[in-house]
Amino acid sequence: MSARNALDIDVAEIDQRLADNYSLPTRFYWDPEIFAFEQEAIFAKSWQFFAPIHKLSEPGDVAMRQVGKYPIVVTRDRAGKLHGFLNICRHRGYTVAERDQSKCLRLVCRYHTWSYNLDGSLANAPDADGEAGFDKNKLGLVPVSVEEWGPMVMVHPDSNAHSFRETYPVLMQAADAVGFAPDPARYTQAREIEYEIDTNWKLWYDNGTECYHCPNIHGSSFGDAFNVAPEDTTIRLDEQFSSYTFKGNANPKANGLTAENYISFQVFPGLVVVMHDDILHMTAMTPLGPGKTRHSTWYFAEEGADPARVEGWIKIWHDTYSEDNVATGIQYENLRSAGQPYNRYVPSREAAAQHFNAMIWDDYKTALAA
Ligand code: FES
Ligand SMILES: [Fe+2]
Repeated sequence: MSARNALDIDVAEIDQRLADNYSLPTRFYWDPEIFAFEQEAIFAKSWQFFAPIHKLSEPGDVAMRQVGKYPIVVTRDRAGKLHGFLNICRHRGYTVAERDQSKCLRLVCRYHTWSYNLDGSLANAPDADGEAGFDKNKLGLVPVSVEEWGPMVMVHPDSNAHSFRETYPVLMQAADAVGFAPDPARYTQAREIEYEIDTNWKLWYDNGTECYHCPNIHGSSFGDAFNVAPEDTTIRLDEQFSSYTFKGNANPKANGLTAENYISFQVFPGLVVVMHDDILHMTAMTPLGPGKTRHSTWYFAEEGADPARVEGWIKIWHDTYSEDNVATGIQYENLRSAGQPYNRYVPSREAAAQHFNAMIWDDYKTALAA
């Protein structure tokens, strides 16, 4: 019998299950204590996608979004430098930025109007300046790490995190190797859609990393536009990412749309970026609770693309994600019944899902050993 811990996690048994192509225990997909543990063990310790660079391209741009359990605000200051902070007022914890903004000079908390410069320093706290021991220099917003990668802004809740590029050297090389270098200036935002699903984030993840299901539930969407046969698909699994290429379907029946030059990257733990002819889109996943997951998707039109085709692609991708969301919602409800302790993967078709499970499990073990 292996040693157990406060979360009743049997490390040796799970090591064996994963080696035998089973999943993590299905309890991990609904237990609130496990969810709280994952927020610390995974999301508080990882680089995550924050927003497209388009939202933060000009001095004075401000964007806010939840990343893991943290509300985050990112600014671009007048000198053009990006800064990231907890979106929490140092006074009594109200939200500093309640919406995205442009041409912003200062962040002003609406509650008692403490204001902050775009570099996070406290600019003014009404009636507090003359008080004994009140030191404005100690009351700047709590910083987080922020970095640009191509058309994306990445954040890490730890202000002392190693840089994104240092953390993912193989990803950087892989992106170069497949020509993933979208120039933000060649893309215009066409749509932003937020999806909130009643499922666990790991079911969302599994789904997004395998195409075993594509001919079935995406027969009129993704599986119609692209040739999803395994022999026509390339998958790269490395470091903390997976990368897919697909070929266009020569005879699309449902929407009449197909495209070449497909490249996608799924970067653990919450980014999916897809690029093919006509369109680029990025998805940020935020786990909101054991059974509540948000994914925000920003769709961009490629310079010169036919607007009707761009609309067609947004429909195809929206349909695809909606189909996935239904499936993962059903899985969550079923697994929550706790009657089935483990799921069984098919390695020839679901190696990417297993690759991500191994990353999740590595983070669990690191946190359990700490
Ligand atoms: S909580 Fe922000 S000014 Fe009071
Ligand atoms: Fe899918």
